[in-house]
Amino acid sequence: MSPEEAASFIKDGDNIGFSGFTAAGCPKAVPVAIAKQAEEKHAEGKPFKIGMYTGASTGDSIDGYLARANAIKFRTPYQSSKDLRQAMNEGTTDYFDMHLSHLAQTLRYGFLEKINYAIIEAADITDSGEIVLTCGVGIAPTICEYADKIIIELNSRHPKEIRGIHDIYVPLDPPLRREIPVYHVNDRIGTPYIKVDPSKILCVVNTNLENEGGAFTPVDETTARIGDNVADFLVREMHLGHIPKSFLPIQSGVGNIANAVLGSMGNNSAIPEFNVYTEVIQDAVIDLMKKDRVKFASGCSLTVSNPAISEIYSDLEFFRNKILLRPQELSNNPEVIRRLGLITINTALEADIFGNINSTHVVGTKMMNGIGGSGDFTRNAYLSIFTTPSVAKGTKISAIVPMVSHLDHTEHSVSVLITEHGVADLRGKSPKQRAHVIIENCVHPEYKQLLWDYLKLGKGHTPHNLKACFAFHNAFNETGDMHKADFSKIL
Ligand code: COA
Repeated sequence: MSPEEAASFIKDGDNIGFSGFTAAGCPKAVPVAIAKQAEEKHAEGKPFKIGMYTGASTGDSIDGYLARANAIKFRTPYQSSKDLRQAMNEGTTDYFDMHLSHLAQTLRYGFLEKINYAIIEAADITDSGEIVLTCGVGIAPTICEYADKIIIELNSRHPKEIRGIHDIYVPLDPPLRREIPVYHVNDRIGTPYIKVDPSKILCVVNTNLENEGGAFTPVDETTARIGDNVADFLVREMHLGHIPKSFLPIQSGVGNIANAVLGSMGNNSAIPEFNVYTEVIQDAVIDLMKKDRVKFASGCSLTVSNPAISEIYSDLEFFRNKILLRPQELSNNPEVIRRLGLITINTALEADIFGNINSTHVVGTKMMNGIGGSGDFTRNAYLSIFTTPSVAKGTKISAIVPMVSHLDHTEHSVSVLITEHGVADLRGKSPKQRAHVIIENCVHPEYKQLLWDYLKLGKGHTPHNLKACFAFHNAFNETGDMHKADFSKIL
């Protein structure tokens, strides 16, 4: 069918599950046609909005087009679209943020609205109902099982020979759940395809569309220094015997900092060849595989630039036994994360002097992207590290504040905070000790004195001053600059 014919099945109020994770593995033609249909209905004065379940963020063809068409009733989980973010913050789209490992099981438990259609990007399908996914898995196995009907986008940009790179496994639900038998990063426990009843497949739309993944911005001085600080810290930990000499698997978050951190680790000859057990496999991992610095990567998606995906597809024989793509409830599974002993490295939007982390909300109220998998990994890590540049918007925002304006990861789950200025090792420290090491080692020089001054205002085990704890945020809201925080005016 054409994308438009396939889209015509979708009615106002339907809930749709999309394959993929980040832009990788997402359908592209049918969602754009649904957005067009929404615009046509709106022009006729008719309502048209859909509910959306995705793996995580998507490409512009899903979140961008549908948000701009004002066609999203609700949306979960992580997203990173500028247009969708605007709709969520203006309140025209309801968004609920979830841990990525929770979504598929939460759908199976029946806690969320029913899925009417699954729209799945595939590299291949068979008459018996085997669906071979492309370069992202997300929640595809569960939505294929729970949707009434399945629409396939068969994208010939992805070779059929990708079959074998996926490890599709859906755990049983309580009270029947057993252990998930991943004991090493490269343990394959499922099938290379999703198996469905062929009669559920409503139609197949042929496409030939390239991935929408953007390229990474080059490493700058700040991200390079953060990366080097992480790598040097891990080497010290290894020498202290806190990390085995054979090293432990790495999880690294999304974006440029994560890419730079992996690059620094790969370039540090004191770090042995390592494995990756993560959500998104980014360009740096592929580079390090070619240099024999990364042995194996298990993830939920190949979130790589288009040159990198072409390279992988042109040398599948080299990469096939070095990569596994799994559903997010496996890549982010707390049981597996804790068993394998992951060193997790995620990026904070904002941290406070006591080690609490805000990953999601700008100045406490505006949603940025969502919690993603950062909670899955942080809470269950062998060693949980947060990185952040010490300042944002020039130096008008200090990323380290007296009290976070929104809380995603508590002080109990955060082991280490790293900025371009240094490392704060928070393990075994009281709140006051944590504040000292964070201010001394991580804060930008322009904000150190303000935070020392704040620390003198509080009493108690965690010495906050509830009148002054949001002075930085209030100064930013009033003047556009956190430097203007003035405790004497408040107290
Ligand atoms: N207050 C307000 N804005 C801030 C800020 C702060 N404390 N810190 C950063 N920003 C702004 C930046 O200026 C930038 O704005 P711009 O887009 O207008 O330029 C934006 O936030 C992104 O900051 P950047 O430094 O480029 O970080 P990033 O792209 O690495 O993203 C997160 C950082 C936290 C938004 C991102 O990592 C995220 O969404 N994390 C949550 C999910 C997660 O951790 N997933 C990984 C699990 S596998």
